[in-house]
Parts: sequence; structure tokens; C-alpha cells
Amino acid sequence: MADNKVTLNYEGKSFDYPIIESTMGDRGFDISKLRDQTGLITLDLGYKNTGATLSDITYLDGDKGELYYRGYPIEQIAEKSNFTEVMYLLLQGELPNQDQFAKFEGNIKSYNYVAEEMKKIIDAFPRSAHPMGVLSSLTSALTAFNPKAVDVSSKEDMDNAAVMLIAKFAHLCAWTYRKKQGLPLNHGDNSLNYVENFYRMTFRMPNDKFEMNPTVVSALDKLLILHADHEQNCSTSTVRMVGSAHTGLFASISAGVSALWGPLHGGANQAVIEMLEMIEKDGGDVAKYVEKAKNKDDNFRLMGFGHRVYKNFDPRAKIIKKAADDILDALGIEDKALDIAMQLERVALEDPYFVERKLYPNVDFYSGIIYRALGIPTEMFTVMFALGRLPGWISQWKEMRLHGDPIGRPRQVYQGAAVRDYVDMNAR
Ligand code: CMC
Repeated sequence: MADNKVTLNYEGKSFDYPIIESTMGDRGFDISKLRDQTGLITLDLGYKNTGATLSDITYLDGDKGELYYRGYPIEQIAEKSNFTEVMYLLLQGELPNQDQFAKFEGNIKSYNYVAEEMKKIIDAFPRSAHPMGVLSSLTSALTAFNPKAVDVSSKEDMDNAAVMLIAKFAHLCAWTYRKKQGLPLNHGDNSLNYVENFYRMTFRMPNDKFEMNPTVVSALDKLLILHADHEQNCSTSTVRMVGSAHTGLFASISAGVSALWGPLHGGANQAVIEMLEMIEKDGGDVAKYVEKAKNKDDNFRLMGFGHRVYKNFDPRAKIIKKAADDILDALGIEDKALDIAMQLERVALEDPYFVERKLYPNVDFYSGIIYRALGIPTEMFTVMFALGRLPGWISQWKEMRLHGDPIGRPRQVYQGAAVRDYVDMNAR
């Protein structure tokens, strides 16, 4: 039988720390009394060994390359479910029956608009603004127009704020695209489902009858499902951290959008396509870039390779690679970037540097190829990721608040100057 505690010996004394059991994956040991008992804190840069919370939402096994939403394998979810159902599952913990699904969808539709004044805010941004910066600002601005959703503490109020944000965030994502393209902003259409509605708001031209392309809708649906949650990643941890100060839902999500923007996180999908285009422009010499990525004197990394947790393969990448093939086939697109991507994958996967460090293509390696095929501009890719990740962020925020997690406040090992006296400027 596994031990139920960890014993630490320090300065001639021993201290016991209880093991916290898990349903799957890492067990933890609870060090909440460590500092009081020993005067020590732990140091874990990048939180590689630190469990920040107890959670029931998502589990991923990095060694086996497995991902589960509320216990359901991602492969089954991606094949059989749809994004609206996945949002319900993440938020409520169970798959909905027909009535629950209809009510949830109806609630989202009841908020399928955004205050007209928000258009003035988006108007003030230059067209050159990065869509993620615009999205983060607009998400925060939503607070002002929906003050009742700011300070929510009951489960019912949280669920209401969640559907409100889910409905309105799709507008904000579509609008950042329209702004970039210099197109008039569309409102929603309640005869459509969530993904169709977003697709129409994003792409409907003012002078044309909008045609729904089911292949595109299905690819978008799958992409959103695959990005919906990924346990305690950088943006999710940000949302939980900000929310732990009892900051409102919308402002917490706005912070998550900013975290996702970074090229080591959600921004990687944009960086992948930029990298593939750069390699193509430079004559397509894939081996040269693999060498650059291996060179420690060169900052270049193969974007879309590696993952903090997956050290075997990224199960989302497998599903997305197939979806990328399908959509390129269906739309009859031949993409040079995809050829380069395939070569890069082959060369890197056979190279000892990548094999030894367990660096495999991640979800972002292929998602950009699909977005490009759908005519979504590169700078919008991370916005698409944000739309997918929204239900995960909200579910994690809600869980954190309902569990009553304390305010997040890490400690530090201080290594700066020792105490010294102030010196007048003329004496320095
Ligand atoms: N290209 C070249 N070398 C790499 C790469 C890469 N993409 N990723 C990691 N390495 C090397 C790194 O230099 C280090 O080598 P060494 O041990 O010799 O110093 C080793 O592999 C371990 O890297 P690390 O940075 O300590 O690993 P990490 O777990 O801290 O970082 C990562 C994970 C995703 C930030 C990193 O692999 C990376 O920067 N990848 C490229 C960006 C990317 O694709 N990000 C998207 C992640 S998936 C979407 C999401 O969840 O946001």
C-alpha cells in the first residue's frame, strides 16, 4: 500500500505531511503547515511540481498523451459531442439531457447581443491593433455594461454570468476580426447554434447573402472543443489567481486573454504559421531551421513543438492533424505551409535532440493550418484559441470560488541587497 504521508527531516526534527489522493495522476502532499513548522518555503520555478489547487474538471496524462474533460476521453468528445454541449459539461460537471441542453442554449441566446456603446470603444482602436489586445480590453469593458455580473457569489449568479459572457464573448471575437478587416460589425442570429452564429457574425459580408458552409462549421466546432480546457495552464492559472482576489468574472477572463496572448502559450499558433512562412520564403530549407532550434546560442525555437506536460504526444494534435487534412481536402486547398510543416515534423521527430527532450508537435502546430484554410488572418488565431478556452476559464474560475480557495499569494526566496542605509544623491 502506498504511504499516506511524506516525512521531512530538518535540523534534527521530523515533520509529516499528508498525502492528498487523486482519482487519476499525480498524488500530492499537503505542505500548508511547512513554513509555520520549519521556517522553510518551497522553491519551484515555473510551478513544475506544484499543485495550485484541487480540481474536478480536466485531467491530462502527459506521459501517456491522454486528455479527459470531466472523465470523458477527448477522442470521444471530439467525435461525438459539440462545443455547446462541451461548455455545459465543463461548467456543470455532467453531460446535459435534452431539456438541460435546450435551456442552456436558450440562456446563451437570450444574451446574444452586445451594447451598441461597445462599438464606440472598438472604433477607437487603430486597425493595426493586435486583436488579442482589443479582445482583452473589450472583455474588461463588458463589465461596465453588465454590472450585475461583476460581483457574483452564488452558484446561480455565477451560472448566469457564465452564459452571459459566453454569448457576448463570441461577439467580441467576431468584432476584433471585423475591425481588423475594416468591416461593419454584425450582431447575432438566434436561429443558429453557437458556432454557426459566431461564424456568421465573423464572415457575413454586408452586400451578400451568407452561405453556411457545414465543413467549416464542423472544423470550427472541433477546434473549439479541443481548446476548451487544459487544466492549470498559464492563462487558466491567471484567471484563477485574479479571481482569487474576488475580482469579477469578466475582468478575470480579460487577464486570461492577456496571458494566452504570449507566444509560449496561445500565441504559438500565430508563431507557427509565421515560422512556416519564413522557412518557405527562405527557400524551404527545413534542416537549417531544425539546426537553429538546436543551437543554444540562437534564440530560435521550433514553434508548435514541445509542451510542459505532454512528453509523449499531444492527443489534441493527433485529432487536429486529421481535421487539417480533411478540411484542406474538402476545400480543395493546397497549402505550401502544410508541406513545410510535414517536412519539419518528419525531420524533428527523427532528430535525437527532439527525441531525447520529448519534443513533439503540439495542438498549435496544426490549428493554424486549419484557420488559414478557413481564411482567418494569422493575427486572429489566438482569438480563436481564446473563444475555445473560454468555457474552461469560466469553469475553473467558478470552481475556485465555490471551493472557497484563498487569495493566491506566493512567497519568494529573496536574494537582493541586504539592509543598507539611504545615500543622498550628491553623495552617490
Ligand atoms: N524548440 C527547440 N527546443 C525546445 C523547444 C522548441 N520548441 N521546446 C523546448 N526545447 C528545449 C529547451 O531548449 C530545453 O533544452 P535544454 O534541456 O537543452 O535546455 C528543453 O527542450 C526543455 O525545454 P523547457 O523550455 O524547459 O520546457 P518547458 O516545459 O518549460 O516549455 C514550452 C514548454 C511549450 C514552453 C516549450 O516547449 C516551447 O517554448 N515550445 C514552443 C512554443 C509552443 O509551441 N507553445 C505552445 C504550447 S501548446 C499550447 C498551449 O497549451 O498554450
